[in-house]
Amino acid sequence: MTADTLAAPRAPHSAPRNKGVNLEKWGWIYMRVSGVLLVVLIFGHLFVNLVAPEGGVHALNFAFVAGKFASPFWQWWDVLMLWLAFIHGANGMRTIVNDYVHNAKVRSALVWVIWIAAAVMIVLGTLVVFTFDPCLGVTPDSTLWDMCQAQA
Ligand code: HEM
Repeated sequence: MTADTLAAPRAPHSAPRNKGVNLEKWGWIYMRVSGVLLVVLIFGHLFVNLVAPEGGVHALNFAFVAGKFASPFWQWWDVLMLWLAFIHGANGMRTIVNDYVHNAKVRSALVWVIWIAAAVMIVLGTLVVFTFDPCLGVTPDSTLWDMCQAQA
């Protein structure tokens, strides 16, 4: 069997099995577990933001988001969604790159780019969620001015 030929599905392993952690297996499990959690998190997110508020999608504005980010519950909901979705998306893209990119160097470079992009977005997103301050840089012509003055 050459590297380009797939073994029969039930064929015994020809090479000795790797001991150690099987990252591919855990990646496979991660995709399923995160997929189930993402269904709840994403559809909950869409319902709470777009369907539940009075006026539906028209109620969505800066104040609505500021209100949600004032609550640790929604902060953690959004951060969990961010982490799970980015790692899920990056691992899914890694699978696609591994399947379709034949050149080993290009494949390795693309997988690095995927994980670096995911890491940067996860760090930035997490910082935004936990450091969000609606009063930062607010000016007297803003509708938030009075509220922010009262808070200060
Ligand atoms: C609604 C919740 C979601 C569920 C239930 C779900 C489920 C899954 C599952 C089970 C797989 C593995 C498929 C396989 O190995 O054959 C997968 C792959 C993938 N998912 Fe998701 N996913 C969800 C959301 C997302 C999101 C939000 C993204 C993007 C950030 C995403 C991007 C991907 C990618 C790129 C793949 C790889 C596709 C491939 O291998 O061809 N998924 N998804």
